[in-house]
Amino acid sequence: MSNLPTISVRDVSLTYRSNISKKPNIKEALTNIGRRQRTTVSINALQGISFDVAQGTVLGIIGANGAGKSTLMKAIAGILPPTSGEIHLRGKVSAMLSLGVGFNANLTGRENVLLGGLAAGLSRDEIESNFQAVVDFADIGEHIDMPMRTYSAGMYGRLGFAVATTINPEILLIDEALSTGDAAFKEKSAQRINELCEQAKTLVIVSHGLGTIEELCTEALWLNSGKIAMQGKPDEAIEAYTKFLHVGTVPTSMEDF
Ligand SMILES: Nc1ncnc2c1ncn2[C@@H]1O[C@H](COP(=O)(O)OP(=O)(O)OP(=O)(O)O)[C@@H](O)[C@H]1O
Ligand SMILES: [Mg+2]
Repeated sequence: MSNLPTISVRDVSLTYRSNISKKPNIKEALTNIGRRQRTTVSINALQGISFDVAQGTVLGIIGANGAGKSTLMKAIAGILPPTSGEIHLRGKVSAMLSLGVGFNANLTGRENVLLGGLAAGLSRDEIESNFQAVVDFADIGEHIDMPMRTYSAGMYGRLGFAVATTINPEILLIDEALSTGDAAFKEKSAQRINELCEQAKTLVIVSHGLGTIEELCTEALWLNSGKIAMQGKPDEAIEAYTKFLHVGTVPTSMEDF
């Protein structure tokens, strides 16, 4: 095992800029008929985040809605470049971000698996030799040959997880995808995550299922309003986060409790 971290996030900030329509008052509305008043808002989704993830770690990211978890995952996956700071990865990354991202809803599951494999840089031979394994793991029956727009959330999740974990990445990012599976699939995916962990792969999992995080992860990171509130053992981070939900203050250290 190498001593260098597999994922290194250095002072990363990410600001979204969106144009919104400003609500005009009556006078402005009359003088500007037909013209839309636009104004730009900035959202500082990530603010000076730094952390390392060692090889073989299963890192769980927890935090409230809008805390910046998905933004951080997209930045690590290379989908969203940070506004400032740097992210270094050692190894091939496979990301299963929000539901359906990367899938074309009008193509069948089978076609999407082929395209997804090609997009991930696999050769046709590699895809063909892995295809049956993906289909077997997803276990969605004849739905594999139906357009993905007809899939339930769980079917999407099953196929996405099967693709992301079969293409043998060194780094696997999973954003909330585990929560849509039924009990049987949850068990199967937990087993696969343990296997990947044994193969010294590095995993980052975002979930609101704190039980899932505690069960699967070797480390946890709690994000609060775009900043790291805590990084530590899963049970400690979960305890701090759930206490925070009740008392509403971010601790500067565990002694604050
Ligand atoms: N494309 C976007 N454009 C503008 N703002 C965005 C965009 N995506 C996210 N945001 C904002 O960035 C902040 C962080 O959002 P993010 O999706 O990373 O949160 P999250 O922790 O994943 O939340 P959830 O638990 O609801 O999935 C929020 O304030 C959100 O409104
Ligand atoms: Mg999210």
